[in-house]
Amino acid sequence: MAKYRIAWLPGDGIGIEVLEAAKIVLDKLNLNAEYIHGDIGWEFWCKEGDAFPLRTINLLKKSDASMFGAITSKPVKAAEAELAPGLKGKGLIYRSPIVRMRQLFDLYICLRPIKAYAGNPLNYKEKIDIVVFRENTEDLYSGVEFNPVPRELAEVLTNLSKPFSAFSKLPLDQYAISTKINTKKGSERIIRAAFDFAKKFNRKKVTVVHKANVVRATDGLFLEIAKEVAKEYPEIQMDDANIDAMTMWLLKNPFNYDVLVAPNLYGDIISDLCAQMVGGLGFGCSGNIGEKLAVFEPTHGSAPKYSGQYKVNPIATILAAKMMLDWLGEKELGDRLEKATAEVIAEGKVRTYDMGGSSKTLEMAEAIANKL
Ligand code: NAI
Ligand code: MG
Repeated sequence: MAKYRIAWLPGDGIGIEVLEAAKIVLDKLNLNAEYIHGDIGWEFWCKEGDAFPLRTINLLKKSDASMFGAITSKPVKAAEAELAPGLKGKGLIYRSPIVRMRQLFDLYICLRPIKAYAGNPLNYKEKIDIVVFRENTEDLYSGVEFNPVPRELAEVLTNLSKPFSAFSKLPLDQYAISTKINTKKGSERIIRAAFDFAKKFNRKKVTVVHKANVVRATDGLFLEIAKEVAKEYPEIQMDDANIDAMTMWLLKNPFNYDVLVAPNLYGDIISDLCAQMVGGLGFGCSGNIGEKLAVFEPTHGSAPKYSGQYKVNPIATILAAKMMLDWLGEKELGDRLEKATAEVIAEGKVRTYDMGGSSKTLEMAEAIANKL
């Protein structure tokens, strides 16, 4: 029997192509795993009214880890229009499967390594090496939102909040409210994960990203907890920065940063900024990690305009496979995969279009597999 059960979720668009590429390198590494296909993506929304069917949720429950490609998402009304005729008008509401997956399986860490591989023509600067820990389940993405605002809520806020008086006279349909909810537990566990990682991999510094001077309740809580947790890791330096200044400092001097930890929204923003510094979407890999399950994916979407052409860069997905190997405890295989990828990048003979070349997706995967 295979040692690992990997839920294999290509999704749609280029998700299918990049996962095919990842399979080439994993097969070459001979990972002792069984890869089980799971249905997910736009096609299942149209046919079944659910882009993340229950059978796929059950598959994930019985898996050790998962590789996920990409899925097309559309706004609620556009999604409803594409439902099969029998499913229309039944009140089905499209929700992003990846967001659902993060919440359902409590995948509270969004881990994004940001590394400038030598020879990548897309590097902003050589030698950038940052790891981002983004909280993945709460904050402004909690989904507690109101538009229009219910009268009961407006009344409570009028009674409880002085600054709310600036809005309280407005008609209820003239403003909207999205709530930012940060729990002590949610904040502490992501901060702890960042410090544990720093300790394990000999990183020197953890920078906490926030806006606590303005967003005092939630970001204040996050920063306060970070200061407490940091006391347990005297060997690691902790500093903190406001999200706005952080974007500027990251561009000015990315070498000042080592491990970053942030609530969901700020983490989302800096992850993309950091990814662009080391090659953009073709290089952005990520892990959604919980206590029992982890789902690894490229950060890009389904790129419909390239779908079916096998020309996009599979490196983001191949590096996501490396993260999966590390998470499974197969560090030696993970190191080999990273080294082979780095060699192909450094040689510069095989390059996809985004890197200025004309190599195809699977040629890149073969080139990496040939180095293993
Ligand atoms: P996208 O990430 O799919 O593509 C944007 C552009 O980035 C592409 O047109 C292409 O120029 C470039 N690109 C993306 N991946 C690349 C790769 N591997 N190599 C080289 N270039 C690459 O974002 P877009 O166009 O905003 O969204 C398309 C669809 O994907 C939408 O339906 C969106 O909702 C969905 N999406 C899904 C995500 C997921 O599955 N996790 C994440 C982001 C978007
Ligand atoms: Mg994002």
